[in-house]
Amino acid sequence: MRQTLKVQIDDKKEYLIEISDGGFERLNQDIYELTKNKKRLVVMSKKVYSLYSGDLNFSNDEIFVFPDGEKEKNYKNYLKILNRAFEMGLTRNDAIIAVGGGVVGDIAGFAASTYMRGIDFIQVPTTLLAAVDSSVGGKTAIDLPNAKNIVGSFYQPKKVLIYINFFNTLDKKQYMSGLGEILKYAFIEDSCNYKVPLFLYEFLTLSCEKILQREPLTLIRLIEYCLNLKIAVVSVDEKESGLRKILNYGHTLGHALEAITKYKKYTHGEAVVYGMYFITEWAYKKEYINYSYYRLSLDLLEKYGFKPLKEKYPANKLISIMKKDKKASSDKISFIVPCGKKQVKEVKMTPLDAEFALKEI
Ligand code: GLY
Repeated sequence: MRQTLKVQIDDKKEYLIEISDGGFERLNQDIYELTKNKKRLVVMSKKVYSLYSGDLNFSNDEIFVFPDGEKEKNYKNYLKILNRAFEMGLTRNDAIIAVGGGVVGDIAGFAASTYMRGIDFIQVPTTLLAAVDSSVGGKTAIDLPNAKNIVGSFYQPKKVLIYINFFNTLDKKQYMSGLGEILKYAFIEDSCNYKVPLFLYEFLTLSCEKILQREPLTLIRLIEYCLNLKIAVVSVDEKESGLRKILNYGHTLGHALEAITKYKKYTHGEAVVYGMYFITEWAYKKEYINYSYYRLSLDLLEKYGFKPLKEKYPANKLISIMKKDKKASSDKISFIVPCGKKQVKEVKMTPLDAEFALKEI
């Protein structure tokens, strides 16, 4: 089975996303068709290299094996990728291909967007998390030592190839991380302005078992639903000046939890789920949502085995991390808050109010 989605950002920026349960011969064929007559630099995660390099038709000369982990998304590795592209003699007609999770996609995309002022970039996400989020929408980035994604660009890929067979070798923690990000879409669906209701909340509830078992057709449909919502959002607000902010639901606290634990304790999706638990509690307390929707929201998170955060972190430290986030304005912290069934809106809090909110939940 193969589903094709189209992203249309403006008249000039258009690309396709393929979601497929096909084998690696088919992926090799797709990549061949996209890159024939081109030189290619393939930035591939180390884990993917060890598991799949034998299945993928790249020569070792083309592959830059990228060490896994958020701390590797730094300017040193970025420069290594650029140097490698230059040594290989890549020109503006050539391409960079990312084969890996979000870290690989972000840094390879940033290299592609800046090398010779931009060359073709192809995303082959190999984690569920990257498939439903970072591989689509054109955000590319590297980190500074104390700030995630602080240097980057908006640069849309030429194509996104999602081959779900890669997900079979994700461990449970990584797979659940992807599901954490997926649950987010259920709570923002009606704010995404997608043309028809997808009933993602209901789909996630009814198909929970199949999703947890990684049943291929269910997974393709699930990814398709999430990406339809993401595409609806990014096609009207590529640069996150308005609507795109809703994709950060659960992320304000989520990012701070990742940062305060140095990206070692929680996966991204898990941290986002803690962020969603927190903001759902807060929204109920402040009467943005009624009890019935509050319960429905928690039910879905619980159905997938997620629980609220047990650990306590000093609120003032979390707030000082949030203040440095690029989503914060000079004096306010931005939270995406549920405000009705499957609806969210931005609420800006002063650091003092946010600290109070963290303490009272
Ligand atoms: N990860 C949120 C976005 O792409 O805007």
